[in-house]
Amino acid sequence: MNRFYLTTPIFYVNSTPHIGHAYTTIAADILVRHHGQRGEDTFFLTGTDEHASKVYRVAEERGLDAKVFVDQIVEENWRPLPGRVGAEPDFFIRTTDEGHKRVVQEFIERIRANGHIYEGTYSGLYCVGHETFISEDELVDGKCPDHGTVPEYIEEQNWFFRLSDFQQPLLDLYDERPDFVLPGFRYNEARSLIEAGLEDFSISRQGQPWGVSIPWDPEQVTWVWVDALINYLSALTYARPGEDLRDRYWPEVRHLIGKDILRLHCVLWPALLLAAGYSLPKQIFVHGFLLLDNRKISKTIGNVIDPLDLVDSYGVDPVRFWAARAVPFGQDGSVSLDSVHERYEKELANDLGNLLSRTTAMLVKYRDGHIPDSESLIEAATIDELRTNVANRLDVFDITGALDAIWDLVRQLNKLVTDTKPWELAKDDANAAQLDRVLYTLADGLRASAVALAAYLPETSPRILEALGQPVDLAWENVAVGKTVPTGGIEAAQPLFPRLEAPATAA
Ligand code: MSP
Repeated sequence: MNRFYLTTPIFYVNSTPHIGHAYTTIAADILVRHHGQRGEDTFFLTGTDEHASKVYRVAEERGLDAKVFVDQIVEENWRPLPGRVGAEPDFFIRTTDEGHKRVVQEFIERIRANGHIYEGTYSGLYCVGHETFISEDELVDGKCPDHGTVPEYIEEQNWFFRLSDFQQPLLDLYDERPDFVLPGFRYNEARSLIEAGLEDFSISRQGQPWGVSIPWDPEQVTWVWVDALINYLSALTYARPGEDLRDRYWPEVRHLIGKDILRLHCVLWPALLLAAGYSLPKQIFVHGFLLLDNRKISKTIGNVIDPLDLVDSYGVDPVRFWAARAVPFGQDGSVSLDSVHERYEKELANDLGNLLSRTTAMLVKYRDGHIPDSESLIEAATIDELRTNVANRLDVFDITGALDAIWDLVRQLNKLVTDTKPWELAKDDANAAQLDRVLYTLADGLRASAVALAAYLPETSPRILEALGQPVDLAWENVAVGKTVPTGGIEAAQPLFPRLEAPATAA
């Protein structure tokens, strides 16, 4: 059986979630649900990155003990996030979990035992926004261009990782696996970073009370990025008590990340894994940023759309639909509240919602609530092709392209109504067989669309199937022609997406 283990980045908890975080979570959930529909053994991990200095600082500012602060913000704001966007992770990791800390320590002990760690002095600039060291030439007017803040100068005795030793092994990896990083332009970007040369770096920080202590030097804590990356592995050791899921899901792992953390995932993480003697992930997919007024949505910048406000106004599925559709997944794209509303009205309410309302209304009016025992006017090959096409696209994380392909079917069904004019057919009994075929095609096409859309619209798809009196069986092979059971008792469906006022929230 195929295994599909997918991760999101774990989120910093210095403040509350915004739509940029929900974006990754929604995309990941769509992919995992889809692979589940294909009968694969899936595992979906998300969680929180809690040992950052910026997290510690916010706790200090509020006069709170760091652990008290993170417990509060994680339980109130972060743990509920996946559920609020209809996502169902299999485990929510917190880097303050004892199970995680234990694995971090084991991991860095292994790297040390393998001879990849030495003691040295670090001096240079550190950007707390990124939680990484930053070089002079990356600064603009003396400030970090992403955060607009002046980095701190740090000079301390640290433990260093011999990243420079891994340049050739990483180049070999990239040569052997041209799909290690997707999309292709991100693969090239990562490869160029490696070609440009790799410098050793410090994996520890001194004088910080907050973090996972270095096992052989308790005066120091593990640099937060090393601590964080290891979550993808550590979670598997304690997500299911008494079971080590590493045997089952490692290295069948795919990481979904934003482009700002490419170097850490595509260069540093594989090097750390090689150093510790672990196999490497299957794939890393790098997505772009959602931009608002062409600036990244960010807590530091303050131009934040609260995903939960959007969900409160539109519901879970419209927000998921918009996230998958508004911006081609992988690229950057500008978003506005108006675009959520427009897609809701034009595509969800009109294209899909009206199609179900019209279809069920016609079944009631012309066939007394029965789906006739007939055959589809859509050729089997057309839907077979759709089924393969959508799966192929989702295999390369193209959630936008796959949704486009499904939407073509929804449009085709609407066109069928316009072209065949069932209300005209109904006027003459001589057309009864043709009307049967049209009605069956609509019901069957909607059923197949609902199964295909289930990963995107987990609340709506079952409602469509139920309105058509069909079993809620989301197995991927049901994206096919002629699987609709002729049945009675169909009633005119309630609107799937009722009319709403234009956006007022979070403007
Ligand atoms: N804690 C690190 C990740 C550690 S993973 C081992 C981190 N956290 S974060 O909370 O700052 O960001 C998490 C993810 O959210 C990143 O992938 C980032 O790219 C993504 N996004 C944050 N803002 C975003 C947008 N405006 N648009 C899309 N995604 C963005 O980095």
